[in-house]
Amino acid sequence: MAAITLSHVVKKYGDGYPAVNDVSLDIKDGEFVILVGPSGCGKSTLLRMVVGLEDISDGEIVIDGDVVNDKAPRDRKLAMVFQNYALYPHLTVYENIAFPLRLEKGRYSEDEIRTRVQKAADTLELNEHLERKPANLSGGQRQRVAMGRAIVRDARAFLFDEPLSNLDAKLRGQMRTEISRMQRRLGTTTIYVTHDQTEALTLGDRVAVLKKGVLQQAASPRALYEQPVNLFVAGFIGSPPMNFLPGQVEGDVLRMPLADVPLSEGLRRRIGDRKLVIVGLRPEHLEDADTLDEATAAKGVTFEADVDVVEWLGAELYAYIPFETREEVRGTLEELDRDLDGEGMRTQLVAALGAESHVRDGDVAELWFDPSRLMVFDPETGDNLTYDEEAARAADAESESERARALERAQRREARRAERSTPAA
Ligand SMILES: Nc1ncnc2c1ncn2[C@@H]1O[C@H](COP(=O)(O)OP(=O)(O)O)[C@@H](O)[C@H]1O
Ligand SMILES: [Mg+2]
Repeated sequence: MAAITLSHVVKKYGDGYPAVNDVSLDIKDGEFVILVGPSGCGKSTLLRMVVGLEDISDGEIVIDGDVVNDKAPRDRKLAMVFQNYALYPHLTVYENIAFPLRLEKGRYSEDEIRTRVQKAADTLELNEHLERKPANLSGGQRQRVAMGRAIVRDARAFLFDEPLSNLDAKLRGQMRTEISRMQRRLGTTTIYVTHDQTEALTLGDRVAVLKKGVLQQAASPRALYEQPVNLFVAGFIGSPPMNFLPGQVEGDVLRMPLADVPLSEGLRRRIGDRKLVIVGLRPEHLEDADTLDEATAAKGVTFEADVDVVEWLGAELYAYIPFETREEVRGTLEELDRDLDGEGMRTQLVAALGAESHVRDGDVAELWFDPSRLMVFDPETGDNLTYDEEAARAADAESESERARALERAQRREARRAERSTPAA
């Protein structure tokens, strides 16, 4: 097991373009860290530099106190866990797990191989399946075999590069649970690459968001969601994505396309002397005013909305409300959309309403939000002017103590299991 430290890591490929640009990140021993960002942002490059499959142009990678920049991949003792189809179909589970040991010809005796495979199979609950072929296993079991191959060599850390991206949604969900369960149980440092923000939020103790090779923010999932540092992170984390509207400061109000909001003292201070800002409001922070009690309704802002389309999803419904944006912010929002791999600029508001809402296509609906939920961004730099560092730290601290508790629980469960499986003397 190991701590991994990246400091000022740079990767320039042949044409000089920095695919990874000055990334620094401290990964604690046992931590589950996700690298996330749109396609092409440098995630795989960064991971391949950590394992040693790619040279480092500048900066340092330190594993457990050793600088590994010039170390061969095998000497770094890390394990890349490949997708389930990287299992050998003609080999049994036993031989699949033993494979990396056999690869190092003559290093391990047959006895030693058996002991190691047995131990890995115990940990991964694969004992009953050792003589089976991968094709006869469930997706989750195959994932465990792939992890078995990694732990059989006592890897100091696991590295995953989009292991679930070719699977259908249901299997992806199962495998996600499986990976998360195994990581907790083993307590092995893990770096996991994905372009999928849902995967990032559900799996990671900490999530590092990359844009064009540059690290934007590394924080707990909740801190990223509640306190994104800029437009990019705000737009990338959350589904459906955050709504962005132009906000014009006029005296004591912030004027937006669909509603005006009284400017609180705090908001005014953060906006400073800007006349125009970009306002962010998450779809799930909009409500159907008809479903609220009066006391709640009075605490927020209600506005009329021409609902264009409604998507009903059972537990929720999404209402789409077109609006006119402003020329002055169009450029920034279009660029953001391109950075996020979007499908063209959204000049519609999305409201994720509860299933109890009766809003339907073509309705004029009364929607509601709590103005303290608004985020405000600088239209030039994209910085989140409402970013609250203390709140972000508190969210990180809470996530850290949750992680410690989860690890402890997993290890107690493990100890009980070991006790049960040891025959009484
Ligand atoms: N071998 C290579 N030679 C030149 N450019 C590369 C090479 N591999 C990746 N790149 C470029 O580096 C950038 C980051 O790629 P990559 O790390 O694969 O991103 P991601 O995994 O986030 O999709 C991209 O612009 C890609 O085109
Ligand atoms: Mg990649």
